Amino acid sequence: MNKVNIIKVNDYQEMSEKASQYIIDKVKANPKMVLGLATGGTPEGTYKRLIEDHDQNGTSYDGVATFNLDEYVGLSGDHPQSYRHYMNERFFNHIDINKENTYVPRGNTVDAEAECEAYEALMASVGGIDLQILGIGGNGHIGFNEPGTSFQSPTHIVDLAQSTKEANARYFANIDEVPNQAITMGIASIMKSREILLLISGENKHEAYKQLIEGEIQENFPASILRNHPYVTIIADKAAIGE
Ligand code: F6R
Repeated sequence: MNKVNIIKVNDYQEMSEKASQYIIDKVKANPKMVLGLATGGTPEGTYKRLIEDHDQNGTSYDGVATFNLDEYVGLSGDHPQSYRHYMNERFFNHIDINKENTYVPRGNTVDAEAECEAYEALMASVGGIDLQILGIGGNGHIGFNEPGTSFQSPTHIVDLAQSTKEANARYFANIDEVPNQAITMGIASIMKSREILLLISGENKHEAYKQLIEGEIQENFPASILRNHPYVTIIADKAAIGE
């Protein structure tokens, strides 16, 4: 088993500061890097700080390409709850990235299977992801890879777990509006990235944190596979760690 580097921080704010600095250093070292991105509540503060830094210090994303982990099936990119919309609003619109180099699976495509294959091929064509940012679900999901997903899975279509729909209902008018399916990078796609930065914050992630660190590596807890990745950094706050 590989050693996972764990950076302990006090709270969400410090996690966001550390994570953004981590990303800024990587972008400066490799201005043409391929960045894997996540949505959800966890990285919001990180994106905010990246924008502040871009404004204040001029860190450039001109040569950077990005691939997002996932998108809801059935939502077009201009739907307010789509992950494309989330990324544009919370990050891309505020930095100097070329939008055509920002990839999010297309949720409203007529052929979602073909979209999965094309997305996987696209990642390979740019040489793979250099640094993948991840959050984690309370049930150990990464991307939308729910418990039981094969560790060998490439980008694929998933049925969302009820717990995931409930957790994400806060962004929709009600739970019935949360789509039932999503396109997600698979576990194998995520594991191909050269480096991974996992962010964990809050008491509601404590059980997931504990299982990630102490539990078995098994498909019923998808994030556990990260312990087999050669280059993972976790930034976790005290509430998640349980201190
Ligand atoms: C988001 C994603 C998910 C989230 C996870 C945690 O693109 O792939 O795996 O990272 O559901 O979500 P939050 O951060 O909202 O707790």
